[in-house]
Amino acid sequence: MRFADVLPERSQPSEYFSPAAMPRKDSFLELERLIGLKEVKRTLAEVTAFSLVQNKRTQLQLKAYPSVLHMVFKGNPGTGKTTVARILGRIFNDIGILSKGHLVEVERADLVGEYIGHTAQKTREMLKKSMGGIMFIDEAYSLNQGGERDFGKEAISTIVKSMVDSRDNLVVILAGYSSETERFLKSNPGLRSRFPIHIDFADYDGEQLFQIALQIYSERDYEISNRCRWKLKKHLNDFVKNRHPHSGNARYVRNLVEKSIRLQALRIIDIDNPSRRDLVLIEDMDLPEPSGMS
Ligand SMILES: Nc1ncnc2c1ncn2[C@@H]1O[C@H](COP(=O)(O)OP(=O)(O)OP(=O)(O)O)[C@@H](O)[C@H]1O
Ligand SMILES: [Mg+2]
Repeated sequence: MRFADVLPERSQPSEYFSPAAMPRKDSFLELERLIGLKEVKRTLAEVTAFSLVQNKRTQLQLKAYPSVLHMVFKGNPGTGKTTVARILGRIFNDIGILSKGHLVEVERADLVGEYIGHTAQKTREMLKKSMGGIMFIDEAYSLNQGGERDFGKEAISTIVKSMVDSRDNLVVILAGYSSETERFLKSNPGLRSRFPIHIDFADYDGEQLFQIALQIYSERDYEISNRCRWKLKKHLNDFVKNRHPHSGNARYVRNLVEKSIRLQALRIIDIDNPSRRDLVLIEDMDLPEPSGMS
């Protein structure tokens, strides 16, 4: 990732943010390759730059502040939260913030137990698994639902304690819908201050969804015909017009692409000696109608 690419235009003093300052690692390239997500990339550049600079300051015996890197990812399903978290783990590993950089995805059922003591035990187990990497808590607000006697709160306090104790080698990310996540943080004032970095994942527009589709085809060695391009564009524009928050954003696109690849297979299976072109090309008739995508 080049800092210059993610900074707002006004502030591009490239002599300060020389692209060479950023390690050229695969993990950065992977983040850069994701379609859209400009704000996400910018915030992560900020966080990464801060950490790298603190390291350099320490080397010169200047005051350095430990970065608190626990984060909140807010956004609808399929906007890339898990994908970005996974790449971020690798970035933090590459720049020496996390010793392993793996991602452990957990949800309420992985943390909350059924009797007294069970929750702390389950939560500690997941924390142990996450050490050196990222603990990614999906739909974190579900830990707060279930009333006063619910064990969800015990899971939260166990996690917070561990965040304080092992500050150096664990990043916790709370993920979920924007409004529920906000409400959850409001009702836990102590929690908000421990998660200083908030990142919003916006819904993708039609053009971005189209670019995501092209990227998936190309990763899999497929190409699409011109007619298919038009049909796909229209399909995705219509999808954006009619969608609701749960429609799945990029996940919908991935499913659409996969379905078209299966339909193409069905179309060419009886060709005796399929050419390279036969095997590669997705035609408009391979693309399912919107009605065939539920
Ligand atoms: N910006 C992007 N560029 C390319 N592919 C993307 C992008 N965002 C998401 N995808 C793809 O879309 C799919 C869904 O993304 P992901 O699982 O990260 O979403 P999510 O926000 O975690 O959703 P959920 O809340 O449902 O867990 C993945 O297969 C991912 O590869
Ligand atoms: Mg996810």
